[in-house]
Amino acid sequence: MKVSVLLENATPSSRFIARHGLSLLLESAEGMRILFDMGPDASFLRNATTLGVDIAGVDAAVISHGHADHGGGLEAFLKATQGSAHPVPIYVRQGAFTPHVSGTRQRHHEISLDATLVKDERVIEVGAQHELVPGITLFSDVSRRYPEPASNARLFERSGDTFVSDAFTHEQSLLVTEGERHVLVSGCSHAGILNIIERAEELAGGALDAVVAGFHLMSPSAGTGEDVEAVRRLARQLAEKPARYYTFHCTGMDAFGILRDELGERIRYLATGSVMDV
Ligand SMILES: [Fe+2]
Ligand SMILES: [Fe+2]
Repeated sequence: MKVSVLLENATPSSRFIARHGLSLLLESAEGMRILFDMGPDASFLRNATTLGVDIAGVDAAVISHGHADHGGGLEAFLKATQGSAHPVPIYVRQGAFTPHVSGTRQRHHEISLDATLVKDERVIEVGAQHELVPGITLFSDVSRRYPEPASNARLFERSGDTFVSDAFTHEQSLLVTEGERHVLVSGCSHAGILNIIERAEELAGGALDAVVAGFHLMSPSAGTGEDVEAVRRLARQLAEKPARYYTFHCTGMDAFGILRDELGERIRYLATGSVMDV
């Protein structure tokens, strides 16, 4: 599978726009083209043009979870694909359009998707598992056997008149199987990357070959990272698996350095503009 990073937090090239957020173009061996996340605004469209990607020609789009740094570009995407020969379906997990905030219960800022856009007929809300085509499946039925990222403690969702801790039932990941190869794609891994990998392994019936994901080891609103020992422990657990790892965005550069110490060449950072066969 080919991965093009249309947007993430950093870029080594002045040709691209970098923003806190994520947007990937996935191209399967069978030729299916999936837009996975849309960043916070229309920047990913500009970068797609720079990379020579025809966004109106994608077969499907996915929003990984209901946070604006992943789905804030939805309005721009809907406009950019308005005249497509075939309407492009956009798959979101049920609950993604619920209001979400970051901070504390008392002092927080809005990080929701634009709920008015759910009315667009191209937006499709899916349940715990949804097969896009044979071999490409969205899933969100993830256990919590391993700890969630500590920074989830600063994330809330509206429930009635109040805000409650976000349980991240609105988060979904993608498992792509090509022949014998299994590739997992996750946006921010709020459910915990080990929990998501474990579920993907169950669905795949064996080990994964590649994991393309943000690991959420930093808190953008607090400006702090996950505990260093916790990151080292995670690195050792990831190293026990045979997969190669491709990461970005909410992993954070401090945590990436620790993961790199343990995993060496088996982990790579994909910045905006990167194109990689995984
Ligand atoms: Fe998020
Ligand atoms: Fe994020």
